[in-house]
Amino acid sequence: MSLLKREAENILLNNRREGYTLPTNNKLYPAQWNWDSAYIALGYSYFNKEYAIVELEKLFEGQWSDGMVPHILFHHKDENYFPNHNTWQCGEKIPSSGITQPPIVSSILKLMLDKHEFSSSEMERILNLVKKTKNYLEWFYKYRDPNDTGLVSILHPWESGTDNSPLWDFPLSKILIEENLEYKRRDLDVSSSDVRPLKRDYDCYITLLNQFRNEKYNPEKLYDISMFNVADIGFNSLFLKACKDLVYIATKNNIECTFIQKKITQTENKLISLYNKGDNSFYSYDVLNKQTLEIPSITNYFILFADIQNKEINNSIIQSLKMYNSNEKYFFSSIKPDNKYFEEIRYWRGPVWINCNWILYKGLLEKDPELANKIKSHTLDLMHEKDFHEYYSCKSGTPYGANNFSWSAALYLDLIND
Ligand code: DGY
Repeated sequence: MSLLKREAENILLNNRREGYTLPTNNKLYPAQWNWDSAYIALGYSYFNKEYAIVELEKLFEGQWSDGMVPHILFHHKDENYFPNHNTWQCGEKIPSSGITQPPIVSSILKLMLDKHEFSSSEMERILNLVKKTKNYLEWFYKYRDPNDTGLVSILHPWESGTDNSPLWDFPLSKILIEENLEYKRRDLDVSSSDVRPLKRDYDCYITLLNQFRNEKYNPEKLYDISMFNVADIGFNSLFLKACKDLVYIATKNNIECTFIQKKITQTENKLISLYNKGDNSFYSYDVLNKQTLEIPSITNYFILFADIQNKEINNSIIQSLKMYNSNEKYFFSSIKPDNKYFEEIRYWRGPVWINCNWILYKGLLEKDPELANKIKSHTLDLMHEKDFHEYYSCKSGTPYGANNFSWSAALYLDLIND
């Protein structure tokens, strides 16, 4: 155990650059990613609190003045990544992408505060981050739910963090791909095409990016003009929990937070209204095409992380989760294996991801401690056996994607300390 603990710490330290940490050292992701950084900060908090705080300070250095925190910050103008700063052409203090990612940072701050003692000067820095997080979460309500429905939309599959999930197949099939689209992918130089998104996916990703750049990423406009607009269950669950965790910290520290506090009930009720009793599932909703997305994705179970106050639904969802991977040796696959879109090794279309297991583990700790602990020991065993990779096959446990993967190492450190 302690050898692996040291290995996990070393992965973070070796991937660390000037104040921020790369998702991996294998060149696939040569920048700072939003939700990766949040997980990474939690990992550091167990052995270097300064690095944990600096990691998040770096992330918020890239925050836009409207409150948005981009999904990628290009601290170095590395041209080996596509799409890099030249393609995005945006960012304020730091060149960045023009879209965001799940705002898990708020829940990470709460976990860090629950777990550790901080000095008063560290506390001051953390509360500064909390205030920035508040602006970030308010940004979602303002610009990603302009019609005040209670649910926030993602406008690009990259915002979900689960880029090529079959969840997006239908909404992407409606996109008019830009004519004469020209670009050169760099991910395939360092990763096998069998495990990465398809050309058709990238054509859509870049068409959307170009559309947003043409609009100068104006958040007032993007919601209405984007060719992709989805109220995703996974994203909204993480968002709702982020809001709850923010309010928890703010209340304890006398930070005014009434707007978010008021919105929480609306978001929770709206999410609950998406519960489908017939097949005991939550399904995402394609806002643009007015279509329910009936894809059995593990992210639909993130509702457990959101801590909705409805015991009956939570219990039914837990029963369903117990069946989700009943025939596989390794769990949880990102897509249910009996689904026709499941692909064993292709990125978010099937493989097991450590952060998904971690989210479910956290969500179950109070609701079903036995299941939570089973997930924890299984996830630790997977990393003991196969090391800290980006993702794994649910059939064989074989690792795929990047090695020395920072968030796997960081979440390992949290799991062994929990
Ligand atoms: C990638 O480059 O694959 C990233 O997931 C985009 O955020």
